[in-house]
Amino acid sequence: MNRRDFNSIMAAGLAASLVPSRWTLAQARAPEDLRVDGERLNAHLATLSEIGRNPEGGVSRVAYSDYDRAGRALVLDWMRAAKLEPSIDFAGNIIGRRAGRDATLKPLLFGSHLDSVPHGGNYDGNLGSLAAIEVAQVFAEHNVVTRHPIEVVVWQNEEGGLYGSRAVSGQLTPPELKSVSNSGKTVEEGIAFLGGDVSKLDQVKRRKGDIGCYLELHIEQGGTLEAGKVDIGIVEGIVGIKQWEVTVTGFANHAGTTPMDQRHDALLAAAHFVEMVNRIVRSIPGAQVGTVGRIQAFPGAPNVIPGKVVCTLELRDLADAKVDMMFEKIQAEAKVIGAQNGTQFAYTELHVNFAAPSDPRMRNIIAHSAEALKLSSRVMPSGAGHDAQAMAQIGPMGMIFIPSIGGISHSPKEFSRPLDIVNGANVLLRSVLAADQMFA
Ligand code: GLV
Ligand code: MN
Ligand code: MN
Repeated sequence: MNRRDFNSIMAAGLAASLVPSRWTLAQARAPEDLRVDGERLNAHLATLSEIGRNPEGGVSRVAYSDYDRAGRALVLDWMRAAKLEPSIDFAGNIIGRRAGRDATLKPLLFGSHLDSVPHGGNYDGNLGSLAAIEVAQVFAEHNVVTRHPIEVVVWQNEEGGLYGSRAVSGQLTPPELKSVSNSGKTVEEGIAFLGGDVSKLDQVKRRKGDIGCYLELHIEQGGTLEAGKVDIGIVEGIVGIKQWEVTVTGFANHAGTTPMDQRHDALLAAAHFVEMVNRIVRSIPGAQVGTVGRIQAFPGAPNVIPGKVVCTLELRDLADAKVDMMFEKIQAEAKVIGAQNGTQFAYTELHVNFAAPSDPRMRNIIAHSAEALKLSSRVMPSGAGHDAQAMAQIGPMGMIFIPSIGGISHSPKEFSRPLDIVNGANVLLRSVLAADQMFA
């Protein structure tokens, strides 16, 4: 699709989408002139950031906490004000729906998440969720009735591992429901806490072709856009992520009486493991990353040689095959480390997010929308995981990034400028309208 095709599709289709209803015709605007209310959107973000505020000025609104539930209650009210019909699905996701002109068409989904990491910031997930509601509100205020039904989605527990979106894409496995989330509740308990019902999870699954498309606006969480003075990132793909719990087993013994050459020190082996993971990941050309993010030694006393260590391993890359290749190398080297002091390494997979390329048609739509708004844009990968990668399993997926100042995220210092927020939301608005014209 070239630019002229795109513009004529937008002009013809969008004119048809302006249908007078109970709103007066005077309120209808030409589609090219439709813009989000930037003040309202930034005010909503500020209000939401009060819920779960941490002393550093960000939020600690981990999934399934009281703050998570309070944030969701607020968002339900804003959805109703935007003339959406919100409901909570059996997986605990919030879905705000509005009918389109053609009931036979598949819904267009757009949204993000409200849960944060512990000691997180005010923009990760919040931006995409509230901008999606803002877009729906602008449609309502200007009598824009899309051809497709629209569904504004707020996914539950994105930070724990895309639990809500993977339930919908059919990737969530029953053992994962027993895993303990940052709130202390298991995922199963958490879903019930949010109003879902795990015994009916099968009913939320959607198959390939069940959605028209999925769009998500998000902060970049890295520093590329700010450094390059680029307004909008067009995501080419989202990294695959695999996480394991790694158990190192040695032998706990007296720290005063066991000679240095007779120890099976699990923490010493784990220390070599941490260094080795970093070395192996860096030794391969490419942008892959690997992290040991959590570690605990047992029994955990100054005068006992650690007999057991439990840590995590996380590997990410745009190619799932590279993640698998790195894991094989790491396992082989860990065997060598273990042989040196009589310790053993064992791995339990925690969860997997498959790498997801975005849809070329969606990239095109986002690029043209940015151009029409006179915003600069750049195609780029996402090193962070997003619900969009689960949605890519069932339909065309597109993601829009805006700059994160200083490239800081998952931190109370996370910040995006109000103007960038408005720009991103306007690109989302135009992209939803363009997708409405493009997809059958
Ligand atoms: C989610 O934010 C992730 O990338 O871990
Ligand atoms: Mn996020
Ligand atoms: Mn995040």
